[in-house]
Amino acid sequence: MEQVPWWQSAVVYQIYPRSFADADGDGVGDLQGIRSRLDYLQWLGVEVIWLSPVFRSPMADFGYDVSDFCDIDPIFGTLADMDELIADCHARGMRLMLDWVPNHTSDQHPWFHESRSNRTNPKADWYVWRDEPANNWLCSFTNGASAWDFDERRGQWYLHCFLPQQPDLNWDNPDVELAMHDTLRFWLDRGVDGFRMDVVHLIGKQLDQDDAPGAIKRGYPHVPFNDVPVTHERLRGIRKVLDSYNGDRASVGEVYLLDEAKMAAYYGDHDELHLSFNFSFLWATWDAAGLRAKISNTLGHLEPLGAWPTWVLSNHDVPRHRQRYGGSEHVARLAAVMLLTLRGTPFLFQGEELGLVDAVVPEAQRLDPGGRDGCRAPLPWTPDAAHGWPGTPWLPFAPEPDVRNVASMQRDPASILHLYRDLLGLRRGHAALQSGTLEMLETGDHVLAYRRCAGSQRIVVAINMGHEPLAVSALAGATLLISTAGATTPATTTGIIAAQEAVVALLA
Ligand code: NOJ
Repeated sequence: MEQVPWWQSAVVYQIYPRSFADADGDGVGDLQGIRSRLDYLQWLGVEVIWLSPVFRSPMADFGYDVSDFCDIDPIFGTLADMDELIADCHARGMRLMLDWVPNHTSDQHPWFHESRSNRTNPKADWYVWRDEPANNWLCSFTNGASAWDFDERRGQWYLHCFLPQQPDLNWDNPDVELAMHDTLRFWLDRGVDGFRMDVVHLIGKQLDQDDAPGAIKRGYPHVPFNDVPVTHERLRGIRKVLDSYNGDRASVGEVYLLDEAKMAAYYGDHDELHLSFNFSFLWATWDAAGLRAKISNTLGHLEPLGAWPTWVLSNHDVPRHRQRYGGSEHVARLAAVMLLTLRGTPFLFQGEELGLVDAVVPEAQRLDPGGRDGCRAPLPWTPDAAHGWPGTPWLPFAPEPDVRNVASMQRDPASILHLYRDLLGLRRGHAALQSGTLEMLETGDHVLAYRRCAGSQRIVVAINMGHEPLAVSALAGATLLISTAGATTPATTTGIIAAQEAVVALLA
């Protein structure tokens, strides 16, 4: 098969460490817990793991408020645990990506302590300080509060696009840029394979630009609207750091711009991000015509640049996609077929392979200032009451953990978990799916269908989201590789797909 870089051929699995697996019984997942479950990830066929932040943090934003970029928070373990995890992953041929948070730190980071101490200290300019708020931006997670807070000690205002406990770094200061590059090198030297880069489009800012009042009302604060040229210079600097490690380390940026054309620019000319998330696709509704348009639009912007797409439906910030799409497991199965057969790198969020919806978290147990607890519920491993968690987990489980857990679903070949595993295997085994071209097929309003080709290998994927069986002529006579309708489907397709069925078939 054609040799493509690992970050293009692999399927990435996002671990939310607090909720994955708990080795020490304190109710919060940890690095040793992850190590103990690598067999599972390998069985599933995952090749790359991305860990949400595990660096030292007061956890105001559950790790996205970092107080030391070069240490592991004790709740997750130690640097030695991380070294073991890296070694274990590599021994299994798996890669490990960490979550790097370049836009802001915790207000407990020593840099901020120093910066806020007076106006003349060596780090006085490491954060964004002004005598007056420089604009009308609002911050995230605080119900419409200003992104500027007054610091009594220094007698000035500082910018925080997220919580007040997450002051924004001042990337206009070259010392900040160098210090942040050093944090990358710290982990690259320890062997990590790359980084997911948190809100990386925010490292350049045009502070004198107010948000339009209409934009503010959309419920999102300033965050989605930052898109300024200087960010691209900074991304090129970051890329140089990564490329200095044999060209084998990779980045995926959280570029939260809901516009494919703008997002595509963050790949640069193969000199900025290796990959960028595509949130416009994530937020698309479950509708064949709409999804077809989104996919075509994404490919249309990326292909001319030689940029490689990503596809993600769920993560730790949004309601799980099974829930967003209406709650049926059936739809979650169709979505899995789509996610894992598109041209680009798919990202799975822990638990989607079990078809989880969000946990119902009683008000008294809610912890996240952004209201995202539901999708962050602990992963159920076993059917018994503890579900593989030695202590009471920090959040309640998602519904049906007695049946919707890893052990039970591993035993059931008809489970959605096995569908995910089969799809991952199919992808690994077929160049057309891993790296082939994608051509959309016109199949009406209710069927999403496309052809993937590499060399002489041609695969057709057809997903019938409608409520009537439909003929897809491109499928006739093809050899069935996977059908969500299960074993009842004959091995050679007639070209008719049932209502709510998805098929992947090999053309002769
Ligand atoms: C995006 C992360 O995914 C989210 O969890 C976090 O709260 C914000 N960035 C701020 O770091």
